[in-house]
Parts: sequence; structure tokens; C-alpha cells
Amino acid sequence: MANSETQVPAFLDLDSISQECREMMSRLPRERGWMNLFLYQYQGFWHPPRQLQATINCQRHFQAQDSDIILVTYPKSGTTWLKALVFSLMNRHNLRDHHPLLTNSPHLLVPFLELDLYFDAHAPDLSQMTSPRLFATHLPFVSLPEPIRRSSCKIVYCYRNPKDTFVSLWHFSKKLRPKELPSLPMELLFDRFCSGVSAYGPFWDHVLGYWENPRETPGKTFFITYEEMKAEPRAQLKRLAEFLECPFSREEEDKGTVDDIARLCSFDSLSGLEPNKIGKLPIGVDSNSFFRKGEVGGWRDALTPSMAEELDRISEHKFRGSGFSF
Ligand code: A3P
Repeated sequence: MANSETQVPAFLDLDSISQECREMMSRLPRERGWMNLFLYQYQGFWHPPRQLQATINCQRHFQAQDSDIILVTYPKSGTTWLKALVFSLMNRHNLRDHHPLLTNSPHLLVPFLELDLYFDAHAPDLSQMTSPRLFATHLPFVSLPEPIRRSSCKIVYCYRNPKDTFVSLWHFSKKLRPKELPSLPMELLFDRFCSGVSAYGPFWDHVLGYWENPRETPGKTFFITYEEMKAEPRAQLKRLAEFLECPFSREEEDKGTVDDIARLCSFDSLSGLEPNKIGKLPIGVDSNSFFRKGEVGGWRDALTPSMAEELDRISEHKFRGSGFSF
């Protein structure tokens, strides 16, 4: 999908925006985003143009199956890791050799709905996918295709504390920013993140949208945090397996299957694998840009005390009364 002649990543390429989407964009609120593109506010969340078009494609055409598993994250919350963990949980044979994760990026094994499957195609052919189908999305709850909400498919929502999420986003933005653009001051990105104007933002509304959803559909959504996965990957894998109705048997536990998955998906293991070190993903982003430090609390080296206080203040304000906290 990357334009090979100009090396413009697909998500920055505006030539293929449809007339219908252009007309819609002309009516939506817009703000300048960090890539020098405008972001458009659709259903309360901000999207660059290609992402907006893909969101609408996906909303119109995706048909969910009851057995589908949808992994949902706000960007930079641990998507790559979650994809690897759930994929290997569902495909737990040959974990030590010949496993698909050893030769493929987690992003190829678990495609994004809007950023991969519906990015160009109106109706991609999903007939070859075996059940249960595994998909990922960054879409906010309000923008999920209706069949996902109506079906009995399962949603795994992974979130990360906003300070580390922002710092990770900051480094990712620097990597993705075209070289011809002037460098972006961190303060500017910070102000936009705080005011909610970043792709799929506001961050806080994204989390709350899913947090408030289980009241309508109990048992449909499983919550997990980056920090929990980091602190106790084995315990979290077992929780995940229970939720996905494929619990580990005593025999599997005895032979170390849980440990094998945790080890295979650890930061050191995944980031050292060839498919995650070289090459580009179909969307035009380097595979290695999804691996940086993989730590909890790294924000302390990057944010000023007043920035950290500001993020805490917004979290306190946004989550007050919701029963949610980090
Ligand atoms: P940092 O930038 O803080 O290092 P996403 O996959 O949602 O884009 O999130 C990327 C973040 O997850 C990056 O965080 C990246 O280093 C981290 N990450 C990727 N793989 C990981 C893994 N296996 N274990 C822990 N963290 C991982």
C-alpha cells in the first residue's frame, strides 16, 4: 500500500480519498495534526483523512461473526504485544519452532480492520480466514461497526497509563514524520494530546467508551493493562485464555506452555526477531517502529513534572465518577 515511487506511506497519501469522503470532510470540524495533515472530528474522535475513509468503509461493510475476537487499543498502548500474545494463545502448537510469530510481524498475523483490511478495499475477501477470526482495531467504541456490537464476538481492550502512552506516541511520531517537515516540538504534540486532538483521540474518551460499554453487554469485553501484562504475563495469559474459552489444561501448564507463550512474546524475544527488525508493513511503516523500550514508567525520563501533573489532572477530571482509574 505504500507508494513505492515517492515512498509516501499509505496513510499519508491523500490521492485516493473518495469524493464522498471529501464532501464529508468539508462538513466536519478539523484541526491541524502532528503530520501537517488536518484531523477531522467524526463521532467525537479525531482522524486523518485516510483513516477516516477506512473507518467509514469498515463501518459499512464489516460483518462480524459470533466467534470473532477483536483486540482494541488506543495507539501505543501495547497493540503489537497484545496481538502476539492472543495469536500465540489461540495457536499454541509449535511454540518453540516453526511458529508463525517467528517469521511474521504480529501485525500481519492479526490485521487491523480499518488500517489494513478496509484501508483500500470496500469489501476485502475474508473467506479464507479460519474461525475464530482475530482482528485488531484502534476504533473508539462509538465507531465500531454495528455488527460487532450486535454480535456475541469478544472484545479484548488493552490500555496503558497516559504518561507512557504519550511518550511512546511522541517517539513514534518522530519516526513517522516525513524528513522534509520541520521537527515537531514535544510541547506542541503534548498540547494536542491533552486537548484530545490526536489520531483516535481523545485518549480518555477512548478508554471510557469501552469501560462504560460492559454495562450494556456483560461478559463481552475483557480489560487488561500494559502494566499488568508486564508485571505478571503468565497470570494475565491464563485470565485471557479463560475469557477466550480456551483455558490451559493441567497438562499444558505442566509442560510449560504458558511460559513458552510469555517468553516468545516478551519484548526481548519479539524485538529480536527478523520480521520485526527489517522491512515495512503494508501500511508503509517500518516494522521495527513498534519496538522501542517496552518499559513501565519510562515517562519519568521524558516528561517535565508539570507535564506529568497535567496528564494526572486530566485523568482525574475525566474519570471522576466513572469508577475507572489507572
Ligand atoms: P515504548 O515506546 O514505550 O517502548 P503499540 O504496539 O500499541 O504501537 O505500542 C508500542 C509500545 O509497546 C512501545 O512502547 C513498544 O516498545 C512496546 N512493545 C512492543 N512490543 C512489546 C512487548 N513484546 N513487550 C512489551 N512492550 C512492547
